Amino acid sequence: MGKITIAIDGYSSTGKSTIAKQLAKALDYVYVDTGAMYRAVTLFAMQEGFIGGDKDDLEGLVHALSKVELKFVYNKSLGFSEMYLNGENVEQQIRTLAVSQQVSKVATIEKVRLKLVGMQKEMGKKKGVVMDGRDIGTVVFPNAEFKIFMTASPETRAFRRYKELLDKGEEVSYKEVLKNVQTRDYIDSHREFSPLKKADDAIEFDNSDMGLKEQLERIYNFALRKIEGN
Ligand code: DC
Repeated sequence: MGKITIAIDGYSSTGKSTIAKQLAKALDYVYVDTGAMYRAVTLFAMQEGFIGGDKDDLEGLVHALSKVELKFVYNKSLGFSEMYLNGENVEQQIRTLAVSQQVSKVATIEKVRLKLVGMQKEMGKKKGVVMDGRDIGTVVFPNAEFKIFMTASPETRAFRRYKELLDKGEEVSYKEVLKNVQTRDYIDSHREFSPLKKADDAIEFDNSDMGLKEQLERIYNFALRKIEGN
């Protein structure tokens, strides 16, 4: 059976990566977390002092982009790929609230997007890929055979993210996580270059009141139909 491209977009903390990982595993496809790429560039920008200080130097960041080498390395025991920035495993560091608070700003920069979108197109060119992000169905793979747009209420999403951060030992309040979710929603959907929006041919999936098992069953069945019809 021919392989297809599966694009999963949506707001932050809608569980895109959870369903994308499960779906990739069930179909034996490659999973690509494009948010991790924007997060790794953000970590680089913080480490080099381009952002996070008194004044941002986004132009400086753009000039330094050629020094950013990103790679996904598959971790067999975890069952998914981890993000490496210039040879270092940064999987933990890119998931902190500090990075989340800066990442939307970095994702507005056109040159950053051009670099990462180019890499993403390359990674998915053989199909058999499940890619999640904000612009996968609209910009990276506008011809993807199966597009999903995930939504859930801001409160549901903030609570999920809050629990995740607490489990990892980060000291955060629900209020600041909710604020981060709302701020990112706004910036992601109002930026000039490839803002977050539902592709016309994407199916919208609200999982506010849905368990993971039901969600996987439904989306997996959708995917099978798309693959069979391909
Ligand atoms: O999915 P995530 O929360 O890890 O994404 C982090 C940020 O990266 C998010 O606020 C918006 C940005 N992003 C983007 O602009 N385009 C993508 N394809 C993926 C993420």
